[in-house]
Amino acid sequence: MTPIKIAVVDGDGISPAIIREGKKILDVVARYTSFQFEYLDAPAGGEVYKQVGDSLPRKSLELMEQSDAILFGAVGLPDLPQGVAERAILGIRQHFDQFVNLRPIKLFNSARDTCPLKDRFIGDGIDMIICRENSEGLYAKIGGILRTDEVATNLMVYTKKGIDRIIHHAFTIARNTPGFTKVTSVDKANILACSQLWRSRFHEIAKKYADIPTEDFYVDAFCQWLIRKPYKCDVVVTGNLFGDIISDEAAYLLGSLGMAPGGNINPDGISMYEPIHGSAPDIAGKGIANPIGTILAVKLMLAETFKEMDVAAMIEQAVEETLDEGRTVDIQKEGLPTLSTGEMGNLIAEKLGKLLKQ
Ligand code: NAI
Ligand code: MG
Repeated sequence: MTPIKIAVVDGDGISPAIIREGKKILDVVARYTSFQFEYLDAPAGGEVYKQVGDSLPRKSLELMEQSDAILFGAVGLPDLPQGVAERAILGIRQHFDQFVNLRPIKLFNSARDTCPLKDRFIGDGIDMIICRENSEGLYAKIGGILRTDEVATNLMVYTKKGIDRIIHHAFTIARNTPGFTKVTSVDKANILACSQLWRSRFHEIAKKYADIPTEDFYVDAFCQWLIRKPYKCDVVVTGNLFGDIISDEAAYLLGSLGMAPGGNINPDGISMYEPIHGSAPDIAGKGIANPIGTILAVKLMLAETFKEMDVAAMIEQAVEETLDEGRTVDIQKEGLPTLSTGEMGNLIAEKLGKLLKQ
């Protein structure tokens, strides 16, 4: 089989350490299946900015264009000019029109203790997919930006085309994901014109999926529902800004930002997979970062881009089993050994190897 090309962005802070663990998982997949992976080193972010004055060098972008998928860690350093590193990730999302940002939030049975709501009723657990619009809104830098010392503006722009494609995608996920039925739309239609267009398109499109139940929430109320009844959500579809914020809140329901993966998807193009967290400078270099978000991002890549559902399910099972045996410090549990980033990755890789061998 011709090797699959994965462009790899090592990134900043804890990022190279967690990317190493993501590649470890791909290496195990290559060892036991017909898949072969070729890694293309495509630096982006703060470290490369310091070297070449550009946080998304043209050469890296060209390597990504030649790849079948992109594996991205995180970017951002405390001593960089404002926004420099973030421009790299937003630049990749825009360049490849990765208009879907998928953020699955799943509480593993073996790690229910990590959920900050564990002492409350959490029903049959937490299992939702946040489907965030990833190409428009405030982060798209369309519509102009003004910043002086006295005044600053950002213009929120949404188009019918942009709204429709993400809402259709959300309904498709609800239709095709076992156990998922409902689509919840989150907006701020009581205040924002963009949200009013969003809400009317949501209702119009919902008519085409008449068998799928829907509900709408204003984003402020949704934030409290997410804490109050997180087990009620299946697919949550929302705009770029709200999606960014509620997905961090949702991820913390798993006890650490280090647990949640994300996919920046172009269903007809090149997609990028990453953990949802940032470069975590507060723990960089200590060997304690949780690699599970990145490992689950690799799982998401195998499922979404390569349609390898069986291998993807085995990665998830390997994580589920590992959480019963050891933990990184952010999700540590009394009675279980505390593992370093590399030890956690090794244990998951070892379990995955056994599952793939069977
Ligand atoms: P962050 O997500 O890096 O960290 C927030 C908190 O979560 C910190 O206490 C951190 O230690 C913890 N954390 C994050 N990932 C973890 C992991 N894998 N294991 C254990 N604990 C983990 O967010 P913060 O501190 O706001 O941002 C740091 C830098 O990252 C900034 O420069 C920011 O702009 C950038 N950033 C980059 C993103 C990306 O590249 N996609 C996304 C979000 C932030
Ligand atoms: Mg974020």
